[in-house]
Amino acid sequence: INVAIFASGTGTNFSALIAKINASDLPIKVISLICDHPEAQVVQRAHEAKIPVWTHTLKEFNDKHDYETAIETYLAQFKVDLLILAGYMKIVSPVLLSAFSGQIINIHPAMLPKFPGRHGIEDAFAAGVTSTGVTVHYVDTGVDTGPIIAQQVVEVLPTDDIDSLATRIHRVEHQLYFDSLCKVIEQKHLS
Ligand code: GRF
Repeated sequence: INVAIFASGTGTNFSALIAKINASDLPIKVISLICDHPEAQVVQRAHEAKIPVWTHTLKEFNDKHDYETAIETYLAQFKVDLLILAGYMKIVSPVLLSAFSGQIINIHPAMLPKFPGRHGIEDAFAAGVTSTGVTVHYVDTGVDTGPIIAQQVVEVLPTDDIDSLATRIHRVEHQLYFDSLCKVIEQKHLS
């Protein structure tokens, strides 16, 4: 099972996935990290994990269409089963959505459809909710809108600040993403 991980930033979900995949006996191969920020920490993490990296900024291309066409061309050398977005901060356009229809998954740090967008943790905290959570879902043309694969609730404690809440949410993410990947592989009969 060949997967590509897309990420833009810190890459804790990237590292957690690599560690759990390596510790499992599942025949999953992370064929590449795709990253739109060459300076991002996740690029270093990929080098350390000896995962090939494709990293280019959108600015190097005419537009998003050309950018994603380059990614598609790069990925065509592998038989890729799934694209895993793990903190990838770009909206996926129809180029990749049609090339990998039903094969792109994302993780979001809130209970979708509540608090979509870039600031899922902060927005939930600011709204004063007593619980929020994590969602793994298929990617469609919208922002954080595709069919849900798995969700897990995270309580907001009276003593929480953004950082303590974010820490607990990330811990849940790191387990839920791997579990969801296993679920998708099973549902799609990939293994
Ligand atoms: C995670 O909270 C994820 O849900 C969101 O972006 C964040 C990425 O964090 N989509 P990291 O780069 O994996 O540490």
